[in-house]
Amino acid sequence: MLIKRPEDIRPSEITDEAVFRSRRTFLRTAAVAGVATAGLGLAATRGVRALATHPDVAAGEKIPNVVESAYKVDEALTPFESVTTYNNFYEFGTDKGDPVARSGKFEPRPWSVKVSGECEKPGEVDLDALLAPHQLEERIYRLRCVEAWSMVVPWVAVPLGPLLARFAPTSKAKYVAFKTVYRPDQMPGQRSGFIDWPYVEGLRIDEATHPLTVLAVGVYGQVLPNQNGAPLRLVVPWKYGFKSIKSIVSIEFTEKEPPTTWNIQGPSEYGFYANVNPEVDHPRWSQSRERRIGELFRRETLMFNGYADEVASLYAGMDLAKHY
Ligand code: MTE
Repeated sequence: MLIKRPEDIRPSEITDEAVFRSRRTFLRTAAVAGVATAGLGLAATRGVRALATHPDVAAGEKIPNVVESAYKVDEALTPFESVTTYNNFYEFGTDKGDPVARSGKFEPRPWSVKVSGECEKPGEVDLDALLAPHQLEERIYRLRCVEAWSMVVPWVAVPLGPLLARFAPTSKAKYVAFKTVYRPDQMPGQRSGFIDWPYVEGLRIDEATHPLTVLAVGVYGQVLPNQNGAPLRLVVPWKYGFKSIKSIVSIEFTEKEPPTTWNIQGPSEYGFYANVNPEVDHPRWSQSRERRIGELFRRETLMFNGYADEVASLYAGMDLAKHY
């Protein structure tokens, strides 16, 4: 994502690092991944279970009552260790290893998300209510980063659309704007002026309420680790990873297209839509192929990250080279 000094970080460096890490990770964690995958199968077969209504869950704890979702890709999962150690979360630094190394002091609880703007019932998202029984689904999604690496991640998530509907958006609500928490005392990256903090993102309302769009509260059946955006983050699987904003404290319905962090940083490189599109290159590298973390060879990037059947109709008639 670094855009200021191309010499600082080139796609080739990024992917080499990814391959290096994934080889290392593979050797070290083949056993762990096996265990995690087996655990996942077990969780899936359990289905809906009667459990505590107010789980006071902490990082690393299993989230109870996760229901298997039909929204899952049938591809090898990226090992837990890679998903939780190779991260982009600039609030903790620009290196992929910074989020796990530097997020230990971050306190994801207590937490509240303010919902405001063009809606009849402004209020707050109740995090504990999100974790209540029968709400959470396991969604296995591809995550394609704009830097041309990708993962397959089992998120524990709630669909965003029904959640937004509770706040009764008005007919003026054309977009949804999201904001990350601003806590420079706990997020060392925010003490630098590299980004105009807080990190902000936005979606058109039909994108935000699309059935594929979720708020994730966990990963691999566990409470979301800080480095992955605790306690809740967006996941929009057909868009480049930077749309999936982490540690959200504000959701606002707006009439106008909201500003988004990477578009502010480099408008010629990062657009508002950020749909995964192998045919529209980043100005400094191709987007036609990607390196799946843990694999040696690159694979072809799929239109809308493989979710074209579900989402292509949202963009009918739009010039996707212009609206990148
Ligand atoms: N959200 C915030 N607040 N800050 C960030 O730096 N990075 C984005 C996105 N959300 C980012 C963020 C990018 S570039 C990616 S690829 C994904 O988070 C990475 O999510 P992951 O670390 O869980 O894989």
